[in-house]
Amino acid sequence: MSSPVSHALKRVKPSATMAVSAKARALKAQGRDIIALSAGEPDFDTPENIKEAAIRAMREGKTKYTDVDGIPELKDAVAAKYKRENGLEYKRSQINVSPGGKPVIFNAFMATLNPGDEVIIPAPYWVSYPDMALLCGATPVFIETRLEESFKVRPEALAKAITPHTKWLLLNSPSNPSGAAYTRHELKALAAVLLDFPNVMVLADDIYEHLIYGDFKFDTIAHIEPRLYDRTLTMNGVSKAYSMTGWRIGFAGGPEWLIKAMSTVMAQTTSNPCSISQWASVEALNGPQDFIPKNKRVFEGRRDLVVSMLNQAKGLKCPMPEGAFYVYPCVEELIGKRAPNGAAIENDEAFATALLDAEGVAVVHGAAFGLSPCFRISYATSNAELEDACARIQRFCASLS
Ligand SMILES: Cc1ncc(COP(=O)(O)O)c(C=O)c1O
Repeated sequence: MSSPVSHALKRVKPSATMAVSAKARALKAQGRDIIALSAGEPDFDTPENIKEAAIRAMREGKTKYTDVDGIPELKDAVAAKYKRENGLEYKRSQINVSPGGKPVIFNAFMATLNPGDEVIIPAPYWVSYPDMALLCGATPVFIETRLEESFKVRPEALAKAITPHTKWLLLNSPSNPSGAAYTRHELKALAAVLLDFPNVMVLADDIYEHLIYGDFKFDTIAHIEPRLYDRTLTMNGVSKAYSMTGWRIGFAGGPEWLIKAMSTVMAQTTSNPCSISQWASVEALNGPQDFIPKNKRVFEGRRDLVVSMLNQAKGLKCPMPEGAFYVYPCVEELIGKRAPNGAAIENDEAFATALLDAEGVAVVHGAAFGLSPCFRISYATSNAELEDACARIQRFCASLS
């Protein structure tokens, strides 16, 4: 019997980040001493005031279906967040709330993409973007960035990638996996290109907005260039900023027609996001925000530690990222070498496999994010574990010959 799996699903790869995490868990279960630096979530717990709001919601019986794309109270909290933090004005009818940031993107794609449409995705990219575009029948078009340019898209490269079929440009700043964030000036230059192509929409994935370090100032493209406001979906969520990955709430502001179309997709698929999580998210957005700068300082210290230790590893080059909780070092100088057990380091996947075998450190190879030869480390774990992991990576790199 031929596979009953749909053609759409056959185009999709399983998530490489989840596969690495699963392998690390399996090795740990066998008793191996494993440090997994592959997960994409903060290691902090959800703040108490947010948990209390959820408990209150349950006690008050807020446990039924809600409006499909979010309760009015959460839409108002999201609109207030966009105004306060991003200088963007959205009406309730311009706000979507979905069961996570991932579904926001998927719903937007499902609502707009037709076979033959193209989605421009700068590489390295978050693993889900191309597959979501493929599931919706569209074609991902990649723009490879360079370490020397801090993994950011140049305006000339963007202009070259746009065709009459381009429907979306995905802009993720700060980026998963590189941590790179676009300055105001860099966004303005990209916006200038987009002004010449009125049919291209922009999906700004700002989910790491609050994880930005040093003096870097976050900004988002619909704010930088008001002429793009009508064709930009500014997406965000509570997962990363409020340590709420399991609660599954993402949101976006955008043009009314698109928000309505996304709501139609939800009405026939997921219906509303969890009512309790929505009430918890109202508290996350409207309540005290002191949790955010506290976490930021912890992450910034970890970033500095990891970048410094990785740059001391033989053959590794690790740029200093502006945000998120990832670094994306390059292993170009190590390609062609051999591990002590004889394994050939032919590419970044072989590097990651040999590193896991030799030292028990799980990282995700760059090919999974569309840009080799590199790997991604998530530093959302304790300093002690990071120091141990980086020392192991240094030892492993030194052992290659
Ligand atoms: C760049 C990026 N966008 C969106 C998401 C989705 O977040 P959520 O967990 O809210 O679906 C993630 C999660 O890893 C991410 O890294």
